[in-house]
Amino acid sequence: MVRSFVSDDSVSASHTRLAALIDTKRAVIGVIGLGYVGLPLIRAFTGAGFRCMGFDVDQSKVDKLNAGQSYIKHIDSEALALLIREKKFEPTADMTRLSETDCIIICVPTPLNESRDPDLSYIDGTAQTIAKTLRPGQLVVLESTTHPTTTRSNVLPVLEATGLRCGTDYFLAFSPEREDPGNPHFQAATIPKVVGGFDEKSGDLACAMYAHAVVKVIRASSMEVAEACKILENTYRAVNIALVNELKILYDKLGIDVWEVIDAAKTKPFGFQAFYPGPGLGGHCIPIDPFYLTWLARKHGEQTRFIELAGEVNAHMPQYVINRLAEFLNEQRKPINGSKIAILGMAYKKDVDDPRESPSFELLTLLLARGAEVTYNDPHVPALPKMRHYPDLPVMTSHELTPAYLAAQDCVMIATDHSVYDYSFIVDQSRFVLDTRNATKLVKRGREKIRKA
Ligand SMILES: NC(=O)c1ccc[n+]([C@@H]2O[C@H](COP(=O)([O-])OP(=O)(O)OC[C@H]3O[C@@H](n4cnc5c(N)ncnc54)[C@H](O)[C@@H]3O)[C@@H](O)[C@H]2O)c1
Repeated sequence: MVRSFVSDDSVSASHTRLAALIDTKRAVIGVIGLGYVGLPLIRAFTGAGFRCMGFDVDQSKVDKLNAGQSYIKHIDSEALALLIREKKFEPTADMTRLSETDCIIICVPTPLNESRDPDLSYIDGTAQTIAKTLRPGQLVVLESTTHPTTTRSNVLPVLEATGLRCGTDYFLAFSPEREDPGNPHFQAATIPKVVGGFDEKSGDLACAMYAHAVVKVIRASSMEVAEACKILENTYRAVNIALVNELKILYDKLGIDVWEVIDAAKTKPFGFQAFYPGPGLGGHCIPIDPFYLTWLARKHGEQTRFIELAGEVNAHMPQYVINRLAEFLNEQRKPINGSKIAILGMAYKKDVDDPRESPSFELLTLLLARGAEVTYNDPHVPALPKMRHYPDLPVMTSHELTPAYLAAQDCVMIATDHSVYDYSFIVDQSRFVLDTRNATKLVKRGREKIRKA
């Protein structure tokens, strides 16, 4: 165990030294987890003039980065290669080099396990790794989305076990990541950041660090407030998406177009925010994070009924889409069994290459189980990756969207409304189109071939 060897005077020296390094941008920023969150964060800090080191356990990702190749669609390879050539960004899988960094930001995954409870093993493992080389004068910030108390319960004790003291020797904070991949209007540097420190000094240092790289820093009074803030944001989305998904089913029965209703409602200049229905919930955050809170509530003898109800409604949506497809095919005297169905879009939302938790995989599974001949197109997902929850899916690659391919389908199902799709072309060439995203709303010709679901 490393013992704290600093006296009270040198304690304040640790803080003063780190504050000066941050102030003059000479602090080296280490980002752990080089994924959808970590890489944009590195872009923000290097853009602000800091030198960054990136740490990942996946050697193949580190190798790609060192070769100047981005594996995330909206992160530009050339810009990355330049940062690496200029030694402003150094990716590595060698975790012992964390000792070379002054500020450590944790961006590792926080999934659910098989029983849908929080899987904090990535955070726990990372805390252990940091503890091995923790030294006085380092700031550690957790950014991974998690339930309130995680930083205090899971990270702090591991770092304290080194013998170093938080708030005097090293510093600790939580700052939730709000990255929205594929959003052309916001990126890490332009999204305000909420920061909660373990104590005053930790909060000061973390706020000072982020203030260089992001447009605005909002100081929370504690790490727990910052943790709870992120879960509130994601729960708010999950619940409101469930609401419009439920209304979609009802309004459809009444012959009312829910998308038109939402467009009308959003003309109200206050008190209403538009959310849109879809074939289900996707992505690494919205379908998962609220259940961290549900787990915590259970531990405290409380319930999170909104979250559970939203989960139920959203999880039912792929089945609703399949039911709509069955009705649609029935009109043409066809069963799903043996029908040729093309799914357009396997990514969980438009214009991204991220298939995690995408409802398209549930659609694909339901269709295969019913004997459909399913193929797919997604310009951003050229081949289906191995998915943890769908281990038995066949190996599949994206089909080219040719007139012959579209014409050969009994139904073309729009699951993700990528901007690159030419929807008029798709409707023109297809026999029938099932649109789960209102992607064809501007298509004029062939509307009789379209059904919404
Ligand atoms: N993707 C988003 O849009 C988004 C938005 C906001 C918040 N978040 C949250 O941010 C966190 C990271 O999400 P992401 O989308 O970047 O995940 P990701 O899977 O894209 O990236 C995580 C990276 O961490 C690496 N990793 C795993 N264990 C590691 C370890 N022990 N040490 C070092 N590296 C390790 C993985 O190899 C991977 O490259 C999650 O908590 C997520 O909920 C994600």
